[in-house]
Amino acid sequence: MASLRPLHIYVHWPWCKAKCPYCDFNSHAEPEGGLGPELRARYIRHVIDEIHWWRDQSLGQRSIASIFFGGGTPSLMEPAEIASIIHAIKRSAPLSPECELTLECNPTSFLEDYGQGYFQELRDVGINRVSIGVQGLRDDWLAFLGRTHHAAGARATLDAALRIFKQVNADVIYGLPGQSIKDYEELLKSLARQGLTHLAAYQLTIERNTAFWGQVRRGEWKPVSNDTEANFFEATQAVLGGFGYENYEISNFAQPESRCRHNLGVWRGEDYLGVGAGAHGRITLTGGQRIATTTRKTPEAYLAHRPGEGQHFLSFEPLNPSRAIQERLFAGLRLSEGIDITDLEKTYGAAVWGHVIDMTEFKDFSDMGWMESCITPLGTRWRVTPEGWSRLDALLGRLLKPERILGREVGVRIHSDELSA
Ligand SMILES: C[S@@+](CC[C@H](N)C(=O)[O-])C[C@H]1O[C@@H](n2cnc3c(N)ncnc32)[C@H](O)[C@@H]1O
Ligand code: SF4
Repeated sequence: MASLRPLHIYVHWPWCKAKCPYCDFNSHAEPEGGLGPELRARYIRHVIDEIHWWRDQSLGQRSIASIFFGGGTPSLMEPAEIASIIHAIKRSAPLSPECELTLECNPTSFLEDYGQGYFQELRDVGINRVSIGVQGLRDDWLAFLGRTHHAAGARATLDAALRIFKQVNADVIYGLPGQSIKDYEELLKSLARQGLTHLAAYQLTIERNTAFWGQVRRGEWKPVSNDTEANFFEATQAVLGGFGYENYEISNFAQPESRCRHNLGVWRGEDYLGVGAGAHGRITLTGGQRIATTTRKTPEAYLAHRPGEGQHFLSFEPLNPSRAIQERLFAGLRLSEGIDITDLEKTYGAAVWGHVIDMTEFKDFSDMGWMESCITPLGTRWRVTPEGWSRLDALLGRLLKPERILGREVGVRIHSDELSA
């Protein structure tokens, strides 16, 4: 019997109460009056049908290392809906004993729609980690970000989560116009003192096709300068480092044994299935070929094609070697552990490697102290140094030969629903 190789599963919930002005995730404001039971049931049914379709492609020969419910706002799902998806996965493939089951939560959905008992119900259906979109703990910052919650609601959500779960993450966004580094440091300290095991701190990015993009273009306000961004980043490292958090990925900080297993798997280039609207997946098929998949993006398009009828994927294509190397670099160099380049060269061949990577640039970056090559008993690893991390986007842009660069801007966040070409 084939050995069980770990597999991660990402489940996308594409709706939110409202669309935040900075957000370019595949998230859509719920229709007025809510989604309605029929639409919800159709969506859940569709996700389960996708899981069954994958089961029929020998998913059962893999063990499930993590399940991540991301969005959108998956905390708008009923615990019974989450349970039915987990149940379908469990019937399709064994969950590894350490399987981490994470749900992303928006404070508003939690407090308004479900009340304090929601987290207990989540735990009862198998969720063992939550990630809460706190963003900030000041009402003026939250209003600027167009959030529907207040600081008090975010605190109440964190308190309730910490009573139930050991593994709790909070997302924060820094670099807001007028935000002082000192006030931001106070935010981090207060979250760290609350006992969160994980923090994700994202620099505010002005994404195309968002309300913020239009406002900035019209000159209504100015994003902070690159130098200020770098100062915020350094402050994040200093404050959270002081509280014992390890900066294991450029934006992610964890206490020991608390790294997010799902995201780590994606960044390390392990296989993951993406189910739900607009989800991306990377799967090695039985014959050894690695496939990149994307499902249809809008909820309407996603629901229009039943899994198994040949059209529910927007794309389902082999990952060619140069694209595979680029993806490994984009994702792996975000990690403090870096990437194993001996393994990459062995897998894809020195010729492809030379075709994609500009070694002269690597040498320059090493001389500048921004990147380093480390020889380990298992091979050579490349890492971006702490001095290089604030320049990561620029480094990647130059390391990959220009004609080889994916047609995608290198963002601060990589999420299983957006790691795409
Ligand atoms: C899918 S969302 C999180 C879950 C939930 N929908 C929420 O917002 O509370 C993932 C995270 O990405 C971050 N994010 C989204 N857009 C961003 C942007 N333009 N700049 C910086 N961070 C961003 C936010 O911190 C957000 O919590
Ligand atoms: S940040 Fe979260 S709540 Fe806001 S639109 Fe994006 S996914 Fe939805």
